[in-house]
Amino acid sequence: MPAPTLLVVGGGGREHALAWSLRREAPDAEILTAPGNPGIAGLAECIPAGAGDIDQLARLVRERNVDLTVVGPEAPLAAGLVDRFEEQGLAAFGPSRAAARLESSKLFAKQVMRDAGVPTADWETFSSAGAALEYVDRHMEPLVVKASGLAAGKGAIVCETREEARAAVRSMLVEKNLGSAGAQILIEECMTGPELSIFFLCDGHGAYPLLTSRDYKRVGEGDQGPNTGGMGAYSPAGAAGAFAGSVDELVEIVRIKIAMPVIEAMAAAGTPYRGFLYAGLMLTGTGPRVVEFNCRLGDPEAQVVLPLTTSGLIEPMAAAARGEPLGDWEAGNADRAALTTILASAGYPASADKGRAVELPDFNPEEVIVFHSGTATEGGRLVTAGGRVLAVTGFGDDLDQAARRSRRAAGKVRFDGRHYRTDIGWHETGHGSPVG
Ligand code: AMP
Ligand code: GLY
Repeated sequence: MPAPTLLVVGGGGREHALAWSLRREAPDAEILTAPGNPGIAGLAECIPAGAGDIDQLARLVRERNVDLTVVGPEAPLAAGLVDRFEEQGLAAFGPSRAAARLESSKLFAKQVMRDAGVPTADWETFSSAGAALEYVDRHMEPLVVKASGLAAGKGAIVCETREEARAAVRSMLVEKNLGSAGAQILIEECMTGPELSIFFLCDGHGAYPLLTSRDYKRVGEGDQGPNTGGMGAYSPAGAAGAFAGSVDELVEIVRIKIAMPVIEAMAAAGTPYRGFLYAGLMLTGTGPRVVEFNCRLGDPEAQVVLPLTTSGLIEPMAAAARGEPLGDWEAGNADRAALTTILASAGYPASADKGRAVELPDFNPEEVIVFHSGTATEGGRLVTAGGRVLAVTGFGDDLDQAARRSRRAAGKVRFDGRHYRTDIGWHETGHGSPVG
């Protein structure tokens, strides 16, 4: 096709990686982004529109003859961006509001999994504290207490003791600390095993896997401290091979036993799933089981998976957005490893210091790419503008080399209060093993 016009909705590190990947695939394309960020500005035209302003985005798409809109974050998907675009004949890649319930309602996701026989933690749902507290008393610790709705990474609490579980129940159902997101909760069995994520590109009927990845959610080294949106990630996640003959075999097991039954159930319900489906998994003694689904790519996992994905994504995303089947499409992957280290602001994740000048040296893009997560320009200089500021992705022939490059580069980027983990990838590199 002639050089397409594309729109990337969102303005974080995942969207920077998306824009970077689209620019690599289509050097002549016109790429717009709303709202974008200073990192994306080097690759695409930033339009000052919020990711949630669906009407303004639809106008932009008509005015600029955008061929394909790719939606990064979950909120505009859960708010029905794709439905509203479809009503107007505009192509957007991402699930409809009904399909995005796989992420926006954990209860819905669990019901779909139960009906489709997809392996996941045992669960029970509650909207009243009394019944939930009784359930806690009757069950063995540890337990996981989860808000059903979207809670920006704060909705899942792994409780080692019944006392913690009771406190989590009270926080959500009595004190209503998560608002309406926590009005309905799930209490789940606590699974154990390595975690792994697989993204599938879905066309409504099939699920096509990208590379495996693993993210690190805790703020501190050795997986200590509170949960964050993600402090780093690597790809491919090879240790997964230990749970099947090979990583490829594991991916195929997950596709057949987890992704396809869900895709088929969504199609049968009249809400076909088109878009990226993020399967967050735990590799348990009885095989891979689902921790959660997200209706989008992971952040920061996209910052390692997309650069390693060598096949073009524009055609398959455009076809899926039009409801056309992808047939025997398969993602091609570079035979390299990638590891990203998040540089976070002072106070993150509880709060986020802002407005600190960022000193960002140039790196050899064959070895290091810096994706912007929370930056802004103020008086012509780059400053911090969020909790997660930059994702420093290193590439290498193997994970060790990628890790060294990522960490070395991370140390050279400076801003006041900067903190980052130097042990991302420890499950596989063995460097910076867990403390405590
Ligand atoms: P979620 O918000 O559902 O992704 O959960 C956040 C994190 O909590 C996951 O990445 C897991 O580390 C942990 N987690 C969630 N559910 C469970 C579970 N049922 N068993 C063990 N860990 C869990
Ligand atoms: N890094 C986890 C997520 O994007 O949900």
